[in-house]
Amino acid sequence: MSHARLVVLVSGNGTNLQAILDACQSGQIAADVVAVFSNRQEAYGLVRAKMAGVPAIVCPKKHDQDRTSYDVQLAEKVMEYTPDWIILAGWMRILSNAFLTKFPWKVINIHPALPGAFPGTHAIERAYESYQQGKIEHTGVMIHLVPDEGVDNGPVLAQEMVEINKEDTLESLEERIHRVEYRLYVETIGKILSDVSWIERIRNAYSTSLHT
Ligand code: GRF
Repeated sequence: MSHARLVVLVSGNGTNLQAILDACQSGQIAADVVAVFSNRQEAYGLVRAKMAGVPAIVCPKKHDQDRTSYDVQLAEKVMEYTPDWIILAGWMRILSNAFLTKFPWKVINIHPALPGAFPGTHAIERAYESYQQGKIEHTGVMIHLVPDEGVDNGPVLAQEMVEINKEDTLESLEERIHRVEYRLYVETIGKILSDVSWIERIRNAYSTSLHT
């Protein structure tokens, strides 16, 4: 099987990126990370990319630049790497259709909560607070396709529940969620690459649901 070309978009630490780089390196998934982009110069994910010998590209939004023109510019740069898949791994900007329409059904995101829960930033903190208030008993991780501008929303590719315990601190919960993220992201990318019909079925079901 030829290797898939992954472009990974990060804004921060890049620990999910690291899990993906390691899985490519070890041969766990038949893929290569061909470029890492960050909107933030100081994102440690860029250092991880360089250490893995992968092009690390900083693409900040200029102050006077509007969202559409930024997304067009980003899409053009990403396109140069002819990605098979675009992996969002802690990418903290909402991608508009100016970007997404260039890569239909090719963008994947991870969210550190279950489908429909705590969309947006600080999802783990908000889940932890909700637990303290007795509103939830567990949280989780989801991985989904990004077909449109919805935030942390889209056809679900994988989800896994993560228990919250009485003894948990925010840090211990974060650590457990991140461990699930690394495993689930790598497994899901592996499944996408090895079972084309699976992802086709998910796309078709979503398209049908939009038209009924
Ligand atoms: C992860 O929890 C991811 O689910 C969320 O942002 C975090 C990024 O962490 N979207 P890292 O940059 O991969 O360490």
